Amino acid sequence: MAESKFSCSILDVGQGSLQLIEQGDDFNIIIDCNICKAPEHVLRYLGRRKVRQVDLLILSGTDQDHADADGLEMLWNRFGTEIKRVWYPNYPATTDNWRQIKRVFKKMEEAGVEVYSPSAGEEGAFGQLKFKVLSPHPDESDTSNNTSIVVKITAGEVSFLFPGDCEDDRWQSIVKYFERHLPADVLLAPHHGSHNGCVERAIELIAPQYTVVSCGKDNQFGHPDKEALAIYRKYSRKAVYITHEVGSVLFECDGRSITNVVLDAGRDDDGKKETVAASLLSVATPTRFEFPNRPIKPNKPRGFA
Ligand SMILES: [Fe+2]
Repeated sequence: MAESKFSCSILDVGQGSLQLIEQGDDFNIIIDCNICKAPEHVLRYLGRRKVRQVDLLILSGTDQDHADADGLEMLWNRFGTEIKRVWYPNYPATTDNWRQIKRVFKKMEEAGVEVYSPSAGEEGAFGQLKFKVLSPHPDESDTSNNTSIVVKITAGEVSFLFPGDCEDDRWQSIVKYFERHLPADVLLAPHHGSHNGCVERAIELIAPQYTVVSCGKDNQFGHPDKEALAIYRKYSRKAVYITHEVGSVLFECDGRSITNVVLDAGRDDDGKKETVAASLLSVATPTRFEFPNRPIKPNKPRGFA
């Protein structure tokens, strides 16, 4: 069998969030579905990465910048039941966008897609992509942001932390109960680099090589916050990237380390991205997989009173 290759793409989707984590051609996880910048850009990128199925689609938050109903509809139209399962936060959102999301969920469930709300402590794997949910916890799901799904995904020995819009008070619990799970090689800056979400002790424990802030240029929220950015720069051992400055960021990994970082990975001309895609495809072996009914084994959250 060819050596497994992994990648993590943090797409430049403007003031929002969309990430793709791949194990070669074998397994794909998509986090969020914001397409405000350009839906065709997202579809083109997924096409060039040869994404044929989505083993897990995580909507990390209920707000539109994470769970964009048009983005979900777009993915549903593109992949249909090749989307195997969807996770969403169990928060009673009442927006028109969320009502539209629920309608798409209904179509997906009727077609056999598993739609599910995970809680802190759950873990599982797709191939060599292991994941652990660090949040939400029902006792602290007091706001939509604090109900964000915070998940750590590990590809071999390389790990990525995706914290959604998790805010300061929720981080206190994550640090308390999941301290040993926090170290990660790549951190998606919580809450788009907002001041509320950047807890210095947490960032110190995460101690990432790279931090990526996903936000739009001149956004109305002032993301990223200057003080937060200083903290990310203080604890990120190699670099801090902001998507509106560098475009989409692609991390390639061999399972032991990050072997390549591609900036502006979503550009359309003949550039690095095409080369990267070709090199990935050259080592990937098309394989047919049997999906077990429930490969995700929920564990009882540990460490909570
Ligand atoms: Fe957000």
